[in-house]
Amino acid sequence: MDSLPICSVEEVPEGDARGFELKSGEESLLSLILAKRDGKIFAYENRCPHRGTPLDWRPDRLLDVTGEYLICATHGALFRFEDGDCVVGPCVGEGLRPIRVEVVDGRVRWVRGGSPA
Ligand code: FES
Repeated sequence: MDSLPICSVEEVPEGDARGFELKSGEESLLSLILAKRDGKIFAYENRCPHRGTPLDWRPDRLLDVTGEYLICATHGALFRFEDGDCVVGPCVGEGLRPIRVEVVDGRVRWVRGGSPA
């Protein structure tokens, strides 16, 4: 398995989330969300299970008003940080696709070839 750098751990604010686009040249490899809570990083594909759209209409606006959940801007589905499960909205019972990442020397890396993602 190989891995690709995404960002430093500090680039994801505590209690918040950021979107990233990984590319190889012009080719998009992966659009993902990194969320951080209690210092732990959670990674999901930036794709709502309801309609397949990105969660954020505007970059990095990924939390609901309470700051408790990730939100899909299209129809308002709410997802838990910890497992990506949809708890409110049209895709309850589904969830965000987890992406395998690792933290090495303060940097978050996408682990390719593992499962999931
Ligand atoms: S596309 Fe995300 S809730 Fe409908």
